[in-house]
Amino acid sequence: MLEAYRYNKVEHLVYASSSSVYGGNKKVPFSVEDKVDNPVSLYAATKKSNELIAHCYSKLYNIPTTGLRFFTVYGPAGRPDMFYYSATEKLVAGKTIQIFNYGNCKRDFTYVDDIVEGVFRVMQGAPEKANGEDGLPLPPYAIYNIGGGTPENLLDYISTLQEELVRSGVLPEDYDFEGHRELVPMQPGDVPVTYADSKALEEDYGFRPTIGIREELKKLSDCYKEYSN
Ligand SMILES: NC(=O)c1ccc[n+]([C@@H]2O[C@H](COP(=O)([O-])OP(=O)(O)OC[C@H]3O[C@@H](n4cnc5c(N)ncnc54)[C@H](O)[C@@H]3O)[C@@H](O)[C@H]2O)c1
Repeated sequence: MLEAYRYNKVEHLVYASSSSVYGGNKKVPFSVEDKVDNPVSLYAATKKSNELIAHCYSKLYNIPTTGLRFFTVYGPAGRPDMFYYSATEKLVAGKTIQIFNYGNCKRDFTYVDDIVEGVFRVMQGAPEKANGEDGLPLPPYAIYNIGGGTPENLLDYISTLQEELVRSGVLPEDYDFEGHRELVPMQPGDVPVTYADSKALEEDYGFRPTIGIREELKKLSDCYKEYSN
């Protein structure tokens, strides 16, 4: 990276951060102005460290960097360890899914197409370079949230997922959902709510995520059906 800087090749480094940096923060929606120094998982600590290192590169080497805090991304062909996918696998296999914090969780689910659009827009405009009063470069550094801005109750999300799995024929019409779910306590490293304030993204790049869960869980179920065939 330093070699690239010396030859002035890094015009803008855009990297993935995460809503997990907000840890156990109580104030919602989460704003990039909020303090983020109480991570509740090692993953969150690594994402925050990433932001600090980016800040350092921006300050020391005048490299424009933008970190994007993604909020619970989902979509077809997603990671098998993500909840919607592993839950579908378990339901199909007749196993029980565990729902943490007795279902009292809210997640600001963000469809992958909205994330892609956000990344694409941010790539077009790097933070500006400028000097401070001391004549030294100010870090051309920025952070944005990219989140749906409408947190969904986890139980509602699961109900919609189940309805769509039935509609697409992945699960039979008479599937016993109640018999395949177990409400369990909060897990270490998890947080009760994520909720993005994406105002800054809208102001600077004219974009905020808008895609709702219903139509996208439909696509996801259809994709699962096609894939499992
Ligand atoms: N999925 C989410 O909900 C979510 C939410 C917030 C932040 N993020 C962040 O977004 C990023 C992508 O997440 P994802 O869910 O798409 O994960 P993913 O595991 O689907 O994708 C990660 C990709 O990085 C590649 N990769 C891993 N190590 C690499 C290396 N050393 N060199 C080159 N490529 C490497 C992997 O092959 C994979 O294609 C991560 O930084 C993650 O922390 C994801």
